[in-house]
Amino acid sequence: MKEYSFDDYKNIIEEHIMDFIPDVDHKSITLYESMKYSLSSGGKRIRPVLLLATCDFCGGKIEEALPYACAIEYIHTYSLIHDDLPCMDNDDLRRGQPTNHKVYGDAMATLAGDGLQSAAFEVMNRDMLLYFDEENALKRRIRAAYEISKGAGCRGMVAGQVADMEAEDKSCSKEMLDYIHITKSGALIIAAVKAGAQLGSAGDELLSDLTVYAENLGLAFQICDDILDVEGQEEEMGKKAGMDTVNKKATYPALYGLEESKKRLNQLTDTAIGALEQYYDNAEVLTKLAKDLAVRGK
Ligand code: IPE
Ligand code: IPE
Ligand code: MG
Ligand code: MG
Ligand code: MG
Repeated sequence: MKEYSFDDYKNIIEEHIMDFIPDVDHKSITLYESMKYSLSSGGKRIRPVLLLATCDFCGGKIEEALPYACAIEYIHTYSLIHDDLPCMDNDDLRRGQPTNHKVYGDAMATLAGDGLQSAAFEVMNRDMLLYFDEENALKRRIRAAYEISKGAGCRGMVAGQVADMEAEDKSCSKEMLDYIHITKSGALIIAAVKAGAQLGSAGDELLSDLTVYAENLGLAFQICDDILDVEGQEEEMGKKAGMDTVNKKATYPALYGLEESKKRLNQLTDTAIGALEQYYDNAEVLTKLAKDLAVRGK
C-alpha cells in the first residue's frame, strides 16, 4: 500500500479542487471566475490535507473523503475572501496576489464567498444522496458533514471572526484571546480532523486522541499566524505582515510578547504530537505537519 506524504495529499487536492464547483449559468460567469481566482491561487491546503490524511490514517478511503476535503477548503477560502474585505481586515494581498475584492470589487467578493460556502454544502449533500441506500456509508458522511458545518458556523469560525472584530482596539483577556483563536481558526482545523476521522470510521479512543491533537494544533496554528504577522516575510506568506498592529488586533504577541508566544506554540505542538505518540509510525503525516508548522513560527 502506498504511503502518502503531505505533498501527495496536497497534489490530490490541487488536481480536484475545481471538480466540485457547480456549473454556473454563463450569465453568472463573473461569479465563477472570482471563486476560481481565490481557489486556484494556491494556499497551503492544510485543512483538506488534514482531512484526507486523517481519513487515510483511520483506514478510510481517500477518494471517498475528497468531496469533504474540497468542501472544507471552499469554506476556508470563503472565510479568507470575507476576512480581507475593507469592512473586516482590509487586506490587499492574499496567497501572493491581490485580494479578491481588489480584482472583482467588494460586492462580487462578498458573493464569491457566499458562492463558495454554498458550494461546500452542495457537494457534501450531493455526495450523501449518492449513498442514500447504504446505511453505514451514509452515517459516516452525515457525521463528517456535521463536523464541517459546526466548525464553519456560529459556534465556530464565524463566531471567532465576530469576537476577533469586537476585540479590535480593546483590552482583551487571555481567556477571550484563546476563545477567539480556537474559534476563528481552530474550529475548521478541528473539523477537518474530526470529519476525516468520521469518514475513516475511527473508534472512540482514536477519535478522542485525534481531537486532542486537533485542538492543540488549531490553537498553535493561529499563534503561529500571529507570530508571522510580526516576524514573517511577505514573499513567503503571500500576505502582508504587520496588519495585526495596524488593525489593533488581539494577538498572542500583543498580549504575551513574542518569546512567550513561541513557548506556547512549542508546548501546544508537543501536546498535539504527544496525543498520537502511541500510533507513531502511522501518524507520521499528522505529526510532521504539526512540527513543520511550529518551525514556520520560530
Ligand atoms: C490563514 O489560513 C487564515 C488563518 C486561519 C490564520 P492559512 O494560513 O491556512 O491560509 P492559506 O490557505 O495557506 O492561504
Ligand atoms: C483569520 O484570521 C481567520 C479566518 C477565519 C479567515 P486572520 O485575520 O489572522 O488571518 P490572516 O492573517 O488575515 O490570514
Ligand atoms: Mg481576521
Ligand atoms: Mg486577516
Ligand atoms: Mg493573521
